[in-house]
Amino acid sequence: MKNIKAIIFDAYGTLFDVNSAAEKCKDKIGDKWAGFANFWRTTQLEYTWLRSLMNRHKDFWQVTEDSLDKSMKVFNIDNSMKNELLDLYKVLSPFEEVPKVLKILKEKKFKLAILSNGTPFLLNELVKNNKLENIFDDLFSIEQVRIYKPNYKVYDIPIKKYQIQKDEVAFLSANTWDVSGGGNYGYYSIWVNRNKSIFDNLDYKPKAEIKNLMELISII
Ligand code: LAC
Repeated sequence: MKNIKAIIFDAYGTLFDVNSAAEKCKDKIGDKWAGFANFWRTTQLEYTWLRSLMNRHKDFWQVTEDSLDKSMKVFNIDNSMKNELLDLYKVLSPFEEVPKVLKILKEKKFKLAILSNGTPFLLNELVKNNKLENIFDDLFSIEQVRIYKPNYKVYDIPIKKYQIQKDEVAFLSANTWDVSGGGNYGYYSIWVNRNKSIFDNLDYKPKAEIKNLMELISII
């Protein structure tokens, strides 16, 4: 890859495992934990898109709680677990290779940032709790523009700050729609396909597809 000046990561699902909150409660939730985690995540994302379309913004923490409320009802999970699940969402674990890869990229002197739906507080906590606070140049939150991904105003945030060209940003996401969002905006978008998924039909083909972030090292 030539001419990449900044490497920008999505947070939820890309650096941090969104299923790890429910997984840590699987003894209490039982076998349905994975279906529940998946439903929670899907509902959470739907609420971000719907709120952006309705022009009724609420921050990501409130959306996470609203979607959890619905998901717990759908999966018949006792309300007493709500606070535990929410607390675990603040300390999601990174995927295994993430700390090592970030360190290598930092040593290679790339500008590194997160661009996420998460609030500044949530992103700071995730980074701090996982001891990654010395890695990133910026933690960009959509709260700056109060509209969710994939609105172009979100992808504009780092371009405005760094004054670089769109295709000088390598953007990494495990969320196919976010890869398309960033790619259609003009980023050099790379898909982190952790689960052998099928890509979307949204007028963008990823510039590269990798199984995990370690593979980024060999193509950057
Ligand atoms: C984020 C969601 C899309 O971190 O995963 O922005």
